[in-house]
Amino acid sequence: MPATSTLAEEILELKRARRATILVHHYQEAEIQELADVIGDSLELSRKAQSFDGDVIAFCGVWFMAETAKVLNPSKTVIVPDAEAGCSLVDSCPADQLRAWKRRHPDHAIVSYINTSVEVKAESDILCTSRNAVDVVNSIPADKPILFTPDINLGNYVKRQTGRENMKIWQGTCIVHATFPGRRLTAAKVEHPEAFVASHPECPEDILRMSDFIGSTSAIIDWCVKHQGREFIVMTESGVRFSLERNSPDKSFYFVANEHCNCSECPYMKRNSLEKLRDSLRDLAPRVELSQEMIDRARLPIERMLALK
Ligand code: 13P
Ligand code: SF4
Repeated sequence: MPATSTLAEEILELKRARRATILVHHYQEAEIQELADVIGDSLELSRKAQSFDGDVIAFCGVWFMAETAKVLNPSKTVIVPDAEAGCSLVDSCPADQLRAWKRRHPDHAIVSYINTSVEVKAESDILCTSRNAVDVVNSIPADKPILFTPDINLGNYVKRQTGRENMKIWQGTCIVHATFPGRRLTAAKVEHPEAFVASHPECPEDILRMSDFIGSTSAIIDWCVKHQGREFIVMTESGVRFSLERNSPDKSFYFVANEHCNCSECPYMKRNSLEKLRDSLRDLAPRVELSQEMIDRARLPIERMLALK
């Protein structure tokens, strides 16, 4: 029997013993996605975490997603296979710097992307994800100025979609999406002239302008699966290939490499592995621990977002 099968069986056995659910983001390795109870984007996984009634949430994604799950369902034990599974957007916006920005603009509403630390969420008026950011901004009265953190590409995309001029945007970026070079997408379009382009809104403006569709991870998958086209250039993390090929085995999906690594993988997401998932279920660690005060403060802006749709 292959080693991964044994490992998978160990994980499923531990999952049963722990009364755990395995929530998996689309950017995880395929072998982790195969063991998922739910695969989703950050909004779908937050909703799932909120309604889960077992004992343990094994969050195969990055740390801010697991923190969100803990805030929404604090009586559960929430574990992440690798504690170093972070996010460049989270790192770009430390809470003390956001507090200083707020002090300079005391009349502004704070809209934070879910890719933030729990401390930044606690300083925010409402959260958003890539799926609902336009609706969230539109839910704020037009005359109320906004501070949007931390993703400059998502913020500028939302600004263009809403026509909102009174919105200041933090200068954070995703190391994966923000470094997709326009010239490589142009080359991919020349190589695959029949292909449609689907992009995540964390990509730079030149990429988004060349796209046929812009949306969250799950929205990209849904769009490609339902579309009548046969070929797609997918401008997001290549982990989405798992659901794309499972749902549309007859279509072709092409990924474009970013500047850093000549790949389209998130190095934080890829820190998780089957071995680490097994160990985390066995040891119930690394575990998200948050103070009651932090949970209470961060929950309100998350729940405001979840109440929207
Ligand atoms: P989604 O909201 O599409 O899951 O995106 C999360 C993320 O980290 C994108 O890089
Ligand atoms: Fe963060 Fe980018 Fe990785 Fe998403 S892909 S978790 S935004 S670093």
